[in-house]
Amino acid sequence: MGLWNPFEIARRLNRLGLVGIGRRNAEFVLMYNPRKFYPRVDDKLITKKLALAAGLPVPELYAVVREEHEIGELHEKLKDRESFVVKPAHGSGGDGILVISGRRGEKYRRANGSLMAREEFEHHLSNGLSGLFSLGGQPDHLLVEYCVQFDPIFERVSFKGVPDIRIIVFLGYPVMAMIRLPTRLSDGKANLHQGAIGVGIDLPSGITKRGVWGSEIIRDHPDTEHSIVGLSIPRWDELLHMAARCYELSGLGYIGVDFVLDKHKGPLILELNARPGLAIQMANANGLLPRLRKVQALEAAGRLSKDPAERVAFARANFATTG
Ligand SMILES: Nc1ncnc2c1ncn2[C@@H]1O[C@H](COP(=O)(O)OP(=O)(O)O)[C@@H](O)[C@H]1O
Ligand SMILES: [Mg+2]
Repeated sequence: MGLWNPFEIARRLNRLGLVGIGRRNAEFVLMYNPRKFYPRVDDKLITKKLALAAGLPVPELYAVVREEHEIGELHEKLKDRESFVVKPAHGSGGDGILVISGRRGEKYRRANGSLMAREEFEHHLSNGLSGLFSLGGQPDHLLVEYCVQFDPIFERVSFKGVPDIRIIVFLGYPVMAMIRLPTRLSDGKANLHQGAIGVGIDLPSGITKRGVWGSEIIRDHPDTEHSIVGLSIPRWDELLHMAARCYELSGLGYIGVDFVLDKHKGPLILELNARPGLAIQMANANGLLPRLRKVQALEAAGRLSKDPAERVAFARANFATTG
């Protein structure tokens, strides 16, 4: 009973050091993310180029669509690709992303299994160019890229889509992580607002602990009914190192780094976020604040490390999921 008392909940959340949106913006995003570097993460094409230049792997770019007439030419350009993904360069929250997993004759098959006629496909891309799905609603360009084939470890806990791994990195130190699992609702995408599940990952071990779906705490995937707890994320140390290096790459102190794990190509960077969401705290049932303060203590003492490996070691030693 007591647990459901709103005051009790508020107290528990406070005790956990939950960061709210006001504090995130005022104390972290505004203080640590110089505005001039935003284009590096707000434009997925720029992020891709920076990652490649830094030797960090990303999904291969097949094409960029900048003008209306290039949409019609795309069918021919992509005719030898069985699967691919189209996304607006300035998109967020999974909006406007098309995950094409196959074809049937002239039609494209979407991740959720439905078929899309050529005209419908072109119409969607045309909307994308006009900025319908993009930050600020400005006209945008579209990326067409390799469709990730997820690691088999996720087969039982992912409904027709590619799970992604989100790591929050503060001043180059990984501080919290989760994996997001697509559901029937989320149509091949792993964004929480599209209906995906968020599952907290214990940072030292790379093992999943518990998850949230909307406001529900869950232990099993609602579509596949397999347990989402106790999964060991493959190549965890590599993921942490890549995440840590995104600090130097972006120049931004407070970011969310999104990865996918490809069956053949291993970890790939999908995108970076300068205003990462706060639901990762729910997925972990842990607050960000104590961890962020620990890094700030290093900063105050002039002990921030320039070595990504050292930062990962610090994170693994200090940021275990509690409770
Ligand atoms: N290349 C890809 N292959 C397969 N799935 C993808 C690919 N790119 C994106 N997705 C799916 O779409 C989701 C959102 O993609 P992302 O690039 O992070 O854009 P957004 O900024 O809208 O979140 C990913 O979490 C993933 O589930
Ligand atoms: Mg994303």
